[in-house]
Amino acid sequence: MTEQGTFDTLEPIEKAGIDELRSLQLQRMKWSLEHAYTNVESYRKKFDAAGIHPSDLRELGDLSKFPLTDKHDMRANYPFGMFAVPMDDIVRLHASSGTTGKPVVVGYTRNDIDMWSRVVARSFRAAGASHRDKIHVAYGYGLFTGGLGVHYGGELMGCTVIPMSGGQTEKQAQLIQDFEPDIIMVTPSYMLCIADELERQGVDCRKLKLRAGIFGAEPWTDSMRANLEQRLDIDAVDIYGLSEVIGPGVAQECVETKDGPTIWEDHFYPEIIDPHTGEVLPDGEEGELVFTSLTKEALPVIRYRTRDLTRLLPGTARTMRRMVRITGRSDDMLIIRGVNVFPTQVEEQIFRIPSLAPHYQIEITRSGNLDEMTINVELAPGADATAKQPAAAELQNHVKDLIGVSARVNVHDEGGVARSEGKAKRVIDKRKL
Ligand code: DLL
Repeated sequence: MTEQGTFDTLEPIEKAGIDELRSLQLQRMKWSLEHAYTNVESYRKKFDAAGIHPSDLRELGDLSKFPLTDKHDMRANYPFGMFAVPMDDIVRLHASSGTTGKPVVVGYTRNDIDMWSRVVARSFRAAGASHRDKIHVAYGYGLFTGGLGVHYGGELMGCTVIPMSGGQTEKQAQLIQDFEPDIIMVTPSYMLCIADELERQGVDCRKLKLRAGIFGAEPWTDSMRANLEQRLDIDAVDIYGLSEVIGPGVAQECVETKDGPTIWEDHFYPEIIDPHTGEVLPDGEEGELVFTSLTKEALPVIRYRTRDLTRLLPGTARTMRRMVRITGRSDDMLIIRGVNVFPTQVEEQIFRIPSLAPHYQIEITRSGNLDEMTINVELAPGADATAKQPAAAELQNHVKDLIGVSARVNVHDEGGVARSEGKAKRVIDKRKL
């Protein structure tokens, strides 16, 4: 049994210098490429077709010579074709639903679950948690990696884990009052719903025992952070991850700096590429985030395209590099009359208007050849109905001036915009219906 408190202090590699980190990465990358090439037909074929062999990797930069992979490779090999170990060694499956087509299925060996738990425990520590904390987990349990992924990390750390899962909002609010968790883990959009429910039950959210919220699984803005921190009197930090790479715990924002998630790059090697040409971009430039797993057994990923757009930044709280918080996926980018728009840009503008609540959904329709954007938003609790018109006009102006698109704005009564109990669905694209 692990001694209580073992995971409360930094691991040696978190304190290591850059040379030690890079040398560990190189050694692990050689193993991972060889492992994928030897055991996964899809990688072998792609490497062979590109005329490249794992032994061609002499330095980390050589990785760019290897082919990129993406969701299509996973789907083409559905369900288990990308696994690098026999099914007998797989102890867990998860799947990410995606919006179209077959789910992407991911598998884990016992060692993978152990590594995952460790990076999650490391993430908790970065968020300021210790084994003494109670953690309320409102990420969904099941095929989604959120619930079970963070659950195992919390237990490994020695925390008291409350596996509430998503949904049953009234009960969430009740248990937060009764069990007095120190930390909550949930999507930021569902946190807003839980906070609304607590307030409906007459609770002053600032007086709860909660000290920190570890929010992720969907894009969110600094305005949302400021709102949640103020409303709940907590530190709100960002956790990032994706099923194909492991699940939550690929990167975690450190509470002392709150300057974007630190990538646990001793396990997940990041690159940024130009999404159009596939060319590797230098640190600091914006592009698509690509990961190569360095230690994963069941499902090694080599240069996996996340579709998430960000930049790599030098380490601050740790030696490892940070990423700028993801404010959009290339898949979520709307092109409205030639202007690129991310839902989070609209979110920022909604937060500027006090008479609006931060629940929103964007509808895209087509009239003739022109795309039209409608923003559905709600009055803040307690705001007077007479505030609807001016709030709509104000939001419309901000969106026009700062994002550059004309949008229709509908301000609904409280509860008029659909809620989600996990990842929020921000865009309804009626052009595709
Ligand atoms: O969402 C894993 C996760 C669970 C992360 C709980 C954090 C907390 P998937 O369902 O495979 O896995 O979705 C992965 O979600 O490529 C991003 O587009 C988005 N995403 C995840 N975390 C963040 C974040 C989980 N912190 C996809 N900020 C990723 C913005 C995020 N987007």
